[in-house]
Amino acid sequence: MDSDQLEQRARVAATVVREAGALALDYFRRRGDLRIDSKGLQDMVSQADRECEDLIFARLSEAFPADSFLGEEGGLRGTGSAMWVVDPIDGTANFVRGIPHWCVSIGLIEDGRALCGVLYDPVADELFAGVAGGGATLNGAPIGVTGETDLRKARVGIGFSYRTPVAPHPGDIHALLDAGCEYLRLGSGALGLAYTAAGRLDGYFERHINLWDVAGGLIIVAEAGGRLSDFMTPDVVAEGNEILVATPGIYDQLRGLFDA
Ligand code: IPD
Ligand code: CA
Ligand code: CA
Ligand code: CA
Repeated sequence: MDSDQLEQRARVAATVVREAGALALDYFRRRGDLRIDSKGLQDMVSQADRECEDLIFARLSEAFPADSFLGEEGGLRGTGSAMWVVDPIDGTANFVRGIPHWCVSIGLIEDGRALCGVLYDPVADELFAGVAGGGATLNGAPIGVTGETDLRKARVGIGFSYRTPVAPHPGDIHALLDAGCEYLRLGSGALGLAYTAAGRLDGYFERHINLWDVAGGLIIVAEAGGRLSDFMTPDVVAEGNEILVATPGIYDQLRGLFDA
């Protein structure tokens, strides 16, 4: 796609993510009434997740009928080479418990490349955005990763889910602590990437994450100057992948810790 088509998509995505965020926030504020279903161990979906995804699909498919659409809750629709990848609520476990750390994520992927991404945290009213070649922003102002080089001063976000074996997770935390690094487990992989891009964290690591969790955040981190693991492997839509993003000054050190 040319740069005009990309810019137009980034603009529409920013509008749509705000609209979906407002809908989700409304549910968050009266979540006592929320219907919640279980998808597996410590894995749930609410009516708010489904309705947000439906809203995003309706808006994007109306604006860009030839593009395809992959949503966490509804799967893949369409065959277009440009694919919108949507996580209607990232941080659902926080959302349903009233913890104000979750977001709506929309990314655009074509030929294995992340082209634009928007993440909206409606509680904080923060919109993180990135466009390939166009930089990364928070509420319109440019953002960038930290210049940290010393793990003893670094703060790294980590994630865990029961999709992967428990065994390596305590070892990952142990390795970080042994290196003098602070870690946080905030419960939204998407915001882990956005916070790294904005310099609030120095990196984010999770042994397995799905494409919809990070599709919005990948380009935001890249455009903010972060270093990323090779996430977009050919089977990533079906299988997900491990994710490591970090400020360049500590990326190799983190890689070494998690590979050890
Ligand atoms: C989850 C969150 C969590 C991460 C999990 C994801 P969801 O997404 O991003 O932080 O550790 O791997 O599945 O289920 O809240 O959309
Ligand atoms: Ca989920
Ligand atoms: Ca998610
Ligand atoms: Ca989700």
